[in-house]
Amino acid sequence: MKRILLIVGGGIAAYKAAELIRLLKTRGYAVRCVMTEAAHHFVTPMTLAALSEDKVYTTLWDLKDEAEMGHIQLSREADLIVVAPATADLMARMTAGLANDLATTLLLATDKPVLVAPAMNVRMWGHAATARNVAQLRADGVTVMTPDEGIMACGEYGPGRLPEPPAIVAAIEATLAPAPPKRLAGRHVLVTAGPTHEPIDPVRYIANRSSGKQGFAIAAALARLGARVTLVAGPVMLPTPHGVDRIDVETAREMADAVDRVLPADAAVMVAAVADWHVEPSQQKIKKGDATPTLTLAENPDILATLARSPHRPRLLIGFAAETERVIEHAVAKRVRKTADWIVANDVSGDVMGGADNSVHLVTEAGVESWERLPKDAVAARLAERIADALEAAS
Ligand code: CTP
Repeated sequence: MKRILLIVGGGIAAYKAAELIRLLKTRGYAVRCVMTEAAHHFVTPMTLAALSEDKVYTTLWDLKDEAEMGHIQLSREADLIVVAPATADLMARMTAGLANDLATTLLLATDKPVLVAPAMNVRMWGHAATARNVAQLRADGVTVMTPDEGIMACGEYGPGRLPEPPAIVAAIEATLAPAPPKRLAGRHVLVTAGPTHEPIDPVRYIANRSSGKQGFAIAAALARLGARVTLVAGPVMLPTPHGVDRIDVETAREMADAVDRVLPADAAVMVAAVADWHVEPSQQKIKKGDATPTLTLAENPDILATLARSPHRPRLLIGFAAETERVIEHAVAKRVRKTADWIVANDVSGDVMGGADNSVHLVTEAGVESWERLPKDAVAARLAERIADALEAAS
């Protein structure tokens, strides 16, 4: 029997924890509950105790509890810790590694997988601090579900509602499923991601809209399959995925040098939106009073094409193609021109750059496969499996 330690945070959605416990019990899970102090304002320990058929734990300072079972023991006995609902405050405390109540102490002291189901006001969910905390928790290896969108208890509309209990159960089952086989163990994979910045003067630069999300998701997915991953990242505000070696660069030429240094690799996935041109930067800030400046552009090295010709060419070389029209046609031509093995083509005319989803076409020698629109994580997971297939077939 799998044991779930359910931490119930103090939000209006705490009432849904009762339904979650009921669903888990009917599926044969043992559920033990911990409530934060704030959660008591929304649901009673009696309700959760009756449904979980167990004692409910609420404080670090209960002498009787400590005598019967040290608080650390609570998480040791669990197969999975689920935080539902996770408030903005609780997630912030988790991110900071605080241990100022029973819930956060358990979360800091555990080595068990943690699944977080957030619920909060739409503006709190959209706040930069929460976004930063969610990204950091994910980088720390915590699974953070995306909240549902809809009418909220506070009358506002938008994302922030607790995912429905059946969806939380599905996420619990996915988290407890055995880890994917480490199909890429012993392989080194290079990933480039993000934009490059090409300085004009000490305060200005040429950039593009790449967020780095797709490349970082690919690096994370490859690491989950056991690969040693080197991620060469342009300037982005993203945390380093768990288990990935990261090298930060700014310009295309720095990216080319970094790529060169980390070879050899079994495979390379060039997701970066590398600037095609640079300018010779002015040493001083260009002043407005001077004559209107003219930028003279010089071509950057094509990192992918250079790698394709190099004696260290990885066995599997994958490029990305960001296109705004005739996507497949351009990608097919780009694969041949750059002598890449595969090109992953995406249409960036919509909200792909910076967005959460991507719809891609995988262009290989064998033809073109169009994948349905998927979250960037799912695109990454599927591509990582395909890379594992290809490397296994080649060896
Ligand atoms: N790329 C690269 N070095 C460059 C430019 C691009 O390594 N200087 C890589 C990208 O990482 C991507 C692929 O080449 O994997 C295609 O990038 P893209 O910008 O779509 O192609 P370009 O060659 O720049 O062609 P164009 O901008 O004309 O479409």
